[in-house]
Amino acid sequence: MIKEEILKLRSQLNHYNHMYYLESKPEISDFEFDQLLKQLQVLEEKHPEFSDPNSPTKRVGGDITKSFTTVKHDVPMQSLGNSYSEQEIQEFIDRIHKELESDEVEFVCELKYDGVAIAIKYENGEFLQALTRGNGLQGDDVSNNVKTIRSIPLKLRGDYPNKIEVRGEIMFSNAAFEKLNEEMVANGDQVYANPRNTASGTLKLQDSGVVAQRGLDCFIYGNVNVPTEVKTHFEAVTGLLDFGFLTPSVTENRFKICTNTQEIMDFIHFWGENRFTLPFAIDGIVIKVNSLEQHKLLGSTAKSPKWAISFKYQAEQVETVLNDIVLQVGRTGAITPVAQLEPVLLAGTVVKRASLFNEDYIQKLDLRIGDTVQVEKGGEIIPKVTDVNLEIRPSSLERYKYPDICPECEHPLERKENEVNHYCVNEEACPPQVIGRMQHFISRKVLDIQGIGDETIVSLYEHGLIKAFIDLYNLKYDDLIELEGMADISVKKLIQGLKDSKQQPFQKVLFALGIRHVGEVVAKTLARNFKNIDALMKASEEELIEVNEIGKVIVQSIKEYFSKPHHGELILRMKELGFHLEISEEEASQSSQKLQGMSIVISGVFLDHSRDELKTMIELNGGKNSGSISKKTAFIVAGDKMGPSKFEKAEKLGVKIISEQDLMNILND
Ligand code: IVH
Repeated sequence: MIKEEILKLRSQLNHYNHMYYLESKPEISDFEFDQLLKQLQVLEEKHPEFSDPNSPTKRVGGDITKSFTTVKHDVPMQSLGNSYSEQEIQEFIDRIHKELESDEVEFVCELKYDGVAIAIKYENGEFLQALTRGNGLQGDDVSNNVKTIRSIPLKLRGDYPNKIEVRGEIMFSNAAFEKLNEEMVANGDQVYANPRNTASGTLKLQDSGVVAQRGLDCFIYGNVNVPTEVKTHFEAVTGLLDFGFLTPSVTENRFKICTNTQEIMDFIHFWGENRFTLPFAIDGIVIKVNSLEQHKLLGSTAKSPKWAISFKYQAEQVETVLNDIVLQVGRTGAITPVAQLEPVLLAGTVVKRASLFNEDYIQKLDLRIGDTVQVEKGGEIIPKVTDVNLEIRPSSLERYKYPDICPECEHPLERKENEVNHYCVNEEACPPQVIGRMQHFISRKVLDIQGIGDETIVSLYEHGLIKAFIDLYNLKYDDLIELEGMADISVKKLIQGLKDSKQQPFQKVLFALGIRHVGEVVAKTLARNFKNIDALMKASEEELIEVNEIGKVIVQSIKEYFSKPHHGELILRMKELGFHLEISEEEASQSSQKLQGMSIVISGVFLDHSRDELKTMIELNGGKNSGSISKKTAFIVAGDKMGPSKFEKAEKLGVKIISEQDLMNILND
């Protein structure tokens, strides 16, 4: 029976997910997990009658939220009173003792996660809704995005109550944040500086598929519907573990009952010293009265409960000497000034360099080489210079003059109006740009050329054997065997790798060119919409902007790239070499102009194709996928379970609704 098979797969996947994310005891490999998930996806697409809004397939994302609905919180989401000194903590404890007329009050100490607050509701054990804090009284419904977070259960386990709402914090682990930034670098984009702001931005992305890829985490710190028999905050939170929530670990000293000031101070000091060993960021600790009865007695102010307080750690700061300012040149020519510091211990690591962001930042602080500066590591991962100690500045120090030429190639730097960054536009001859582009070209996510790595690129460049990636294809066996570390086998492997790379599909080749802002996803969209490089090169700004997800900045960048004659020559040479500069025959055979210029919305669950397949078909046939219905919408392809609000809107605007079969008829006509 199909239904049983689907249910079994869901329950298996939920179990494996739980073992991996909550118990840290994976039972199967990632590959096996993905295989099971794919099986389930295929079955669900074929049998929409058995669809489930909380199926593990929702973790992958794909649902688009065009605008987030604002919803009132059943119980307001308050904030915490902050404190920054041990004296304030002592005053808090004294006040509690006084108000409760007792010196024997139990407190719970826990971590203060540096992320975004979330309220998640369940009904009958099923994920119902996730809301942001908003203004505390009402927040935004970010359910589609939150469902992709693997440490949040979609179905509860154990003996859960009919209705339950939990509160917690959504955040990036250090590893997930670093991975995201590596991708930004690979796409030639600026990195994100602050994990908290990025987590907040990620929750508000329209495409839950993108949210899923970013790998957010969630820690639960509160239960809104505590059963009457539960008397303490400690039990209320630890009890959530049985339902499948990720709660703070007692054994790792992340959640501790304390009965006196000393124990609380010890907890504060412990994490003050050890917080940088955690795999995620905290900005303090939270101290809460344990007894729920006492919570009621203490009550709250308009903003925050009187039974809790946070102790915020100061961003770690040290003073050190600014030895130099060095300009770094990125793959896209963007210049970042970097402070070269006298090495100093900060937040558990030796810091030698810190970002200075741009010229304005340096001028605002009036930084001078030789200054003694404050270096800080706060919510940001990368240390920054925050201040200058003017009192000990030697009078001989000169004002810093921002260089006007590139430190690598001496080409004059440019700073466009309204931009804070300087650029070196000498892209053809500036070594870090040339090398960076070549390294991008060969990298795993791009053309994945076997037998060559970043080091080999540098070595080939330094030996004058290559000046651009296209030169790789002129290399001979005799050139390569001469290089240090190369042997017969490795040379042959590289030559074969280069040959194979010409078989990569058009979208990869487009990504490989290294056009600013044209990352993996944009390259794919462009390939499908324009089908070959000539059409893309000829496309007008209007034609480009028409494409869903392609904004002005990307359009400008594409136009600029192809306006340069040497890029035209490069494309010609790539054609001669036999690169795929058009979509595959298989894709071409499925393409036409039948939907040319039409803006199409797909909505609901479909019988014969996945949503991605339908989107691809629309793009291949000249149509544009759009997430929202407007007067411009040519028609809506509706599957099962299209939302009632979409129906209403379509009717109001007089937009035609067609079925999956109707779309096939149009395409096969
Ligand atoms: S309790 C009524 N516990 O800090 C108190 N909050 O300003 C509700 N936070 O918005 C919060 N870690 O997002 C609590 N262990 C923790 C927390 C925590 C982080 C955040 C939360 C809240 C803010 C308080």
